[in-house]
Amino acid sequence: MSDTPSLIIAIDGTLASGKGTLARGIAEDCGLPHLDTGLIYRAVGKACLDGGIDPDNAIAAAELATGLDLNLLDPSVLRTAEVGQYASRVAIHPPVRKALFELQRDFAFQPGGAVLDGRDIGTVVCPEAHVKFWVDADIKARAERRTAELLAKGEHMTVETMLAQLQERDERDRNRAVAPMKPAEDAHLLDTTHLSIDAAREKARHIVDQVRARLASR
Ligand code: DC
Repeated sequence: MSDTPSLIIAIDGTLASGKGTLARGIAEDCGLPHLDTGLIYRAVGKACLDGGIDPDNAIAAAELATGLDLNLLDPSVLRTAEVGQYASRVAIHPPVRKALFELQRDFAFQPGGAVLDGRDIGTVVCPEAHVKFWVDADIKARAERRTAELLAKGEHMTVETMLAQLQERDERDRNRAVAPMKPAEDAHLLDTTHLSIDAAREKARHIVDQVRARLASR
């Protein structure tokens, strides 16, 4: 019987569903390191933007993805709507996903475990994760949330424009040929349309505690 078995938690879901906030909360509750994998795709998108490189050019984008340093991800410059659009475009390229795959696996398999949130963690990056969540909410609720978040950072956008952007990004993320965004079959579903993030965190914590207890008794 081991006191602290390694615990890998995969949290996937749609944009502005609350999965990032939830992932940070769960990581804090469990005392585990957390990686927002969206930031690494955003870093590649931002590098394209800054370097005048076409994000639809798979080879050029993959070159930027190779050797990316996880310690240099700055959420304050990466979490803009424009960078999000670029991230979604570079994320469709198999060579980009391949370049970022090992980076994410290494993070997941560090001693003690980790929490990773993204689109394909439970299905592709870490199908062997001990606990998986799929976080989603009604698209209108997500558009309202994201518009308010951007406004708080001084970026103005109407809810209608945001709704159109979310539709476009959801569609691209869901329909790409490689690692499309979808729930893992064994994921626990958390619908945050009417559930507060605190309530979702509580629900998730209960599930994680059960899995932890099971792992510890092995
Ligand atoms: O979660 P986010 O908005 O920061 O993600 C930005 C884009 O990155 C998203 O549109 C799709 C892509 N992404 C991905 O393809 N796979 C992941 N694991 C995380 C993000």
